[in-house]
Amino acid sequence: MYPFKEGDFAPRNAWYVAAFCKDIGERLLSRWILGEPVVLYRKKDGTAVAVGGRCPHRYYPLGESTRLGDSIQCGYHGITFGPDGRCTRVPSQEKVPSVYNIPSYPLIERGLWAFIWMGDPELADESLIPSGEQIGYGLDGYVYKPVRTMEVDGRYQLLNDNLLDLTHLGFLHRSSIGNDGNASAPEEREVSGCKVRSRRWIRETEAPPLFADTSNFRGKVDRLAGMDFHAPGFHAGLHDTYVSKSDRERPGELLQSSKVYHAVTPATRTTCQYFFAYGGPSDEYVDAYSKSLWPVLDEDKFATEEIEKILQKSESLPPELMLKSDGTAVIGRRILQDMMDQEREKVGEPA
Ligand code: FES
Ligand SMILES: [Fe+2]
Repeated sequence: MYPFKEGDFAPRNAWYVAAFCKDIGERLLSRWILGEPVVLYRKKDGTAVAVGGRCPHRYYPLGESTRLGDSIQCGYHGITFGPDGRCTRVPSQEKVPSVYNIPSYPLIERGLWAFIWMGDPELADESLIPSGEQIGYGLDGYVYKPVRTMEVDGRYQLLNDNLLDLTHLGFLHRSSIGNDGNASAPEEREVSGCKVRSRRWIRETEAPPLFADTSNFRGKVDRLAGMDFHAPGFHAGLHDTYVSKSDRERPGELLQSSKVYHAVTPATRTTCQYFFAYGGPSDEYVDAYSKSLWPVLDEDKFATEEIEKILQKSESLPPELMLKSDGTAVIGRRILQDMMDQEREKVGEPA
């Protein structure tokens, strides 16, 4: 399936963000992840768990059911499942065979995010979750907050493509966080395994409107804009703004430094969840600034959903036009395709 090989959609043996930790509580939280309904909740001892969200009896949604202690009682005919997915009670019969169990998924909380593993649980390696050090999370002098969870009617890779090509900032987000410099500045790229790092120094330009407003500086600035992609769906970005070196009074002064986190999780083949978090120098700053980023997120959602409509309505699609600036996105796609190819090969391997 576009932009991957026919039939391919998303790697399963990988960690995806299922929710912000703060959203997992006593209440049952329903999510679609990789085409499966999932229910998230926190047990009485505080541990967050994830189990399948479809009752195996008549497919009633377990997210719309009742929590009984650490278990879920299906809202239709009352079958009960423990937090490990084991069926513990069938009200209409004595026998409870193990085929009545529902899946339970590895779920690890790291920083602001709860990461889920939907694939083979034997392969769920915690060390594959991006560490705080790798993503610039937990640094002294920064406050980090979840900002927004969005349901997007577009396939997840459209958002990955968006985040892997920040030349769009000067156009889609021209009224807020971008200008011509975002597209014309040279990009430095580094690839290592399933990670792609992109950096752009945008020098001697006016700050885009939102940065000029928040930093209260109108002269020329130098900006460092970067994004690290941790496949399959986690993007950790940074944006630092300095007074330009050519300024007579404050050359090189740091005006603003922020961290942005975009996590993209496939919900179904053509929809996804988009989790945005932000890090900045103080609580007030993060609250005020992240609020002003809402329209920016709406623009990305709009672009993604409009492209999805084009994809779905087109009888046929001409080959995509590729630009020099697509290098990072092409690498990102290739990493995901390789992950899917490897999973397919593993399935085909003799036991
Ligand atoms: S559908 Fe869940 S118990 Fe019948
Ligand atoms: Fe964007």
